[in-house]
Order: sequence, then structure tokens, then C-alpha cells
Amino acid sequence: MKKIKVMSVFGTRPEGIKMGPVVKALADDDRFTSVVVSTGQHAEMLQQVLDVFAVKPDYDLKIMKPGQTLTGITVTTMTKLEPIIQKEHPDIMLVHGDTSSAYAAALTAFYNQVAIGHVEAGLRTWNKYSPYPEEMNRQMIDDLADLYFAPTKTSAHNLALGNHQQGVVITGNTAIDALHYTINQDYQHSVLDEIDSEHKIILLTMHRRENWGQPMEETFKAIKKVVDERENIDVIYPVHLNPKVQMVAKKILGGDNHFHLIAPLNVVDFHNLMSKALLVMSDSGGVQEEAPALHKPVLVLRDTTERPEGVSAGTLKLIGNQYENVVEELSTLLDSEDEYQKMSEAKNPYGDGRASKRILDAIAKWFEQK
Ligand code: UD1
Ligand code: UDP
Repeated sequence: MKKIKVMSVFGTRPEGIKMGPVVKALADDDRFTSVVVSTGQHAEMLQQVLDVFAVKPDYDLKIMKPGQTLTGITVTTMTKLEPIIQKEHPDIMLVHGDTSSAYAAALTAFYNQVAIGHVEAGLRTWNKYSPYPEEMNRQMIDDLADLYFAPTKTSAHNLALGNHQQGVVITGNTAIDALHYTINQDYQHSVLDEIDSEHKIILLTMHRRENWGQPMEETFKAIKKVVDERENIDVIYPVHLNPKVQMVAKKILGGDNHFHLIAPLNVVDFHNLMSKALLVMSDSGGVQEEAPALHKPVLVLRDTTERPEGVSAGTLKLIGNQYENVVEELSTLLDSEDEYQKMSEAKNPYGDGRASKRILDAIAKWFEQK
């Protein structure tokens, strides 16, 4: 039987983490020929992920520039990707999630009449500017797609609301598949040597565009107040390489002994440090899926989330970015055993770690029925 040629296109850290297991599964499956294209929207932060999954892209568009703009990412991805599509003639392109390079790749596939499979389809806040520009990127990708790999029933329902009923498969999230490659019980890291073993650890990340500036400043000041009032809390914060984030993090949290500001971690380090933390504070998308699987409560530093399953399950709490609110919510979670137990014991709603296999089977079935 003719093999199905699948071109996977991704280029940021979170796309790499969630496409890593899919690309590995494709390479091991005789039904497929796999072509991997890195957009290079992220440079160093993607390379860390590729190293962990031992993925070597067949093509690298190398689009990243310091201070890149949304339009720049979109136009450069399209211009550099089109000749590769025309050379390789894939049967289907897989894109992931909601980055600008994922949208640009999907649009280029459509212009070249290549079928599109959307991994992590159907996430929604229904708020055009939150997260910005991701909410519209993912809606526009779903308008272009032929196959939709929805992580949960809620995301499949969102797709139906947008009139996408055909080609929808509920798979679970590939972020949970990735945890099988990374978690290691005997894990150690040098940052843990700086922390008293009796101390509790908060793992912090923050990077979203809509949080740049004042929301980020207020949030950091609030966390600093709560942590500095206590003797036994340390915060590990791997700071995103975006200069807009680096500047605020250093200004407010730099020089405080309770805060360990470190370079972005590779995903093995990040997942294992998460498993050693008491709780997580983050505006990240992927972190909201991984932490529940490790039974870690997440205080989500946003006003909206496209991961409402975790909020309903009780493992995520949306706390926004206002100083008083962040102080109150963090203090409660640190001081109330009941609250902590309730959040950490909630059930992970994002799947069983076999999403990649379901995605491959769905692609094969779709081509069989065509
Ligand atoms: C992008 C995605 C966002 C995703 C995030 C994951 C868009 C619009 N945004 O946002 O959805 O949540 O990735 O982290 O697609 N930089 C480096 N080295 C790196 C990575 C970034 O120096 O390896 C710096 C560069 O100066 C770059 C800047 O960070 O210009 C911003 O990167 P960009 O991809 O535009 O935005 P993110 O905030 O990372
Ligand atoms: N992550 C990582 N190293 C870090 C911080 C995060 O490997 O220092 C991982 C994390 O486990 C998750 C993903 O990166 O899988 C989230 O990426 P990010 O927050 O950049 O993007 P988002 O998920 O918000 O799109």
C-alpha cells in the first residue's frame, strides 16, 4: 500500500513538546512517510526540545528575529514554506495549536491544496484578544483544517459550535504523551542544591503578550510580597527569552534570595522540577495540561482560559493579574491544607498519554475512506 506522506510543521517550544511524541510515532509506523519542518519561530527554546526527543527536522525555515512581529512571523513562514511544500508534495500537513507560524503554515497548505490536520483543535476562550493572537490563530486554523484532533469532549463541542462536525476525533492531549518520555523518579538538578530541602517550591512561568508590562509587574510584586513574608518558600522561575519578559523579571525579582531566576529549562528538567514543586503559577497553556497529570495545583495568571476542563476538575484556578487578588489566592493555597488537597487530588482531564496513536490511526482511516 502507498505510504501516506505527513509533513509536520512546528517551531516554538510548546509545539515541539506536543508534536515530539507524534513525530516519533510517525517515524516508527510503516503506514507513513514523515517529513519534519521547523519554522524556527523559536531558536534556542525549540532546540532544547528537539534534543530531548532526538528529532532532526528535514527542513529549518530559521525565521526567528529579535523582537519579531506577528506579521513578520506570518509572512516569512509562508514565503519560506511554500517551495518546500511544492517540492515534497505531502498528502497531509500537521500543525499544532495556535502560534502564528502554525496559522501561516496551515494557510500555505490550503493555498497549495494540501489537506490539513490540526493537533490540539477546538480550544477556545471565544475572546478575540485573550489570548492574543492565539485565539484567532486557532479559530482560523480550524476553518482551514480537514481533520481535527480534539483533546477533550469540550474541545470537540467547541468545534461543533463553529460548524466543524466532520473529521473530528477526540484523542486526549499529546502533552500527556510527552510526560512518558520525561518524568524520572531519581531526577536531580543543580537549582535544587541551592534550596533547603525542607522548603516548599513554587514553579513560576509567565510570557503571554497580553500580560506584558503592568499585569506582569503587578503579578511579580504580589508573589514577592507573599513569598518574602514566609521563611520556607522558594520560587524557581525559568525566564522566557523574550527581552520584554526578561527585563521585568530581573527588575522586580532579581536579587531576592527566595527567587531563583534561571534560563529556560529543557523539558525533562521542567517536567521533573514540576513534579518536585508544591504548586505552579503560570500563564502558559501547556503547563495547565501537564500539572494536573502530576497532581500539582495551578494558579493561572490569566483572566481567561481555553482549558476549562481543568478548572471544572478543580485543579486549575484562574486568578488574573491584580495585585490584591494574586496575594489573596496564593496566601490561601499556601495556608489552607483543605484548599491544597482539593486542588492537588483532582483528576487529570487531559488524557491517558496515548493521543499520538489515536492521531495516527485517524489519519490512516481518513485516507482509507477517501
Ligand atoms: C510564541 C507564541 C505563543 C506561545 C509561545 C511559547 C505566537 C504569536 N506566539 O510566543 O503562542 O505561547 O511562543 O513560548 O505565535 N526568543 C529568543 N529565543 C527563543 C525564543 C524566543 O530569543 O528561542 C525571543 C526573540 O527575541 C523573539 C521573542 O523571544 O523575537 C518573541 O518570540 P515569539 O515567538 O514572537 O513570541 P513568544 O512570546 O515566544
Ligand atoms: N517548558 C519548558 N521549559 C521551561 C518552561 C516551560 O520545557 O523553562 C515547557 C512546559 O512543560 C510546557 C511548555 O514548555 O510543555 C509551555 O510552553 P510555553 O509556556 O512557552 O507556551 P504555551 O504552552 O503557553 O503556548
